[in-house]
Amino acid sequence: MKIADRVARIQPSLTLAVSAKAAKLRAQGVDVIAFGVGEPDFDTPDNIKEAAIAALARGVGKYTPVSGTADLRKAVAEELNAAHGTKHGAENVIVSVGAKHSLFNLFMALLDDGDEVIIPSPCWVSYPEIVAMAGGTPVILQTRPEDRYAFDHAALARLVTPRTRAIMLNSPCNPTGTVYGKETLRAIGRVMAANPNLLAITDDIYRRLVYGVEWHSVAKVNPEVADRVILVDGVSKSYAMTGWRIGFCAGPKELVKAMDTLQGQSTTNPSAVAQAAALAAITGPQDSVALMNAEFDRRRKVMFERLRAIPQVKLVEPEGAFYCFPDFSAYCTGKIKDDVALAEYLLEKGRVAVVPGTGFLAPGFARLSYATSMKLVEEGTARIAQALKEL
Ligand SMILES: Cc1ncc(COP(=O)(O)O)c(C=O)c1O
Repeated sequence: MKIADRVARIQPSLTLAVSAKAAKLRAQGVDVIAFGVGEPDFDTPDNIKEAAIAALARGVGKYTPVSGTADLRKAVAEELNAAHGTKHGAENVIVSVGAKHSLFNLFMALLDDGDEVIIPSPCWVSYPEIVAMAGGTPVILQTRPEDRYAFDHAALARLVTPRTRAIMLNSPCNPTGTVYGKETLRAIGRVMAANPNLLAITDDIYRRLVYGVEWHSVAKVNPEVADRVILVDGVSKSYAMTGWRIGFCAGPKELVKAMDTLQGQSTTNPSAVAQAAALAAITGPQDSVALMNAEFDRRRKVMFERLRAIPQVKLVEPEGAFYCFPDFSAYCTGKIKDDVALAEYLLEKGRVAVVPGTGFLAPGFARLSYATSMKLVEEGTARIAQALKEL
């Protein structure tokens, strides 16, 4: 079978690969602790499930408008406006099959071949790949744990060329858990002010998952460039709705229209029943979000402390999302040649699945998700400590 060249240019998702490997071992009866997956272990809250059941009973199982139902687009616009100080209407919003799909449509709609997107690294596995799939060139802005993964105006400005279309932001960040402070966001605003065609794309999928710090919107901090900030968000992480596949994007009308054209010739609308559930998630009671957050925070503290206590492991305290991103490079020596080999060793020896940092452009690191029970956080970190001790 001749497969198109475009597939060979794309790296498969390392996160999904680790989850698949862990699931396979588990199916063979091996007791594996999965720190690989990026999804809440909680069930979708009852009010959301009930809204989906009621919608089915009402007969929603038909096509909806390509960009999503009028009710959901309006609710998303209002919700995003409250968070970002923007003035979007329903016509500025398109609902897609998860935030990943929103990003795919967005880059397909924005980028011509060779257009550049600046991506601060360590970064989510999919940004460089989706940019490349759309014909664009990812330009990596390297950040350092010593700076708590922040960057300044000079570091960003240096990377802007006439081909730069956008800077990609993700706060809280997957994998580092970093939440951008106002200073970093102001630096972005200054660079955007100096480059009138430059856009900021902000993936805020973890925006509600912050612990003891305040989340800031790049649009709100820089109102003078807010019309060039494109918002990507969704219900997957905050409402434990990963499998429902609803994400959204808000931005200028002509961009949303272009994304609607692409979506209209690919997936058509996202699932009608999932849209009804997402509407309930956004407009309904938010107490389950607070309960899940409180539990994530408890686990975060334990995982952070346990990992930090392992000799030679360096780790910046995560402030958001549900990941720890330790630097294990001191253990990547001798027979363990890199973080991919280390992740394999931890899976085989420690029976713990972690995602190698290489997938996030951070060799020597590993990403561990604490979206799993406290018991498994405790047991899994103990297994890692023991496996590393034996190296
Ligand atoms: C940073 C980031 N953005 C987007 C997504 C995708 O979200 P969704 O499940 O809505 O497609 C993820 C999921 O892992 C993520 O970590």
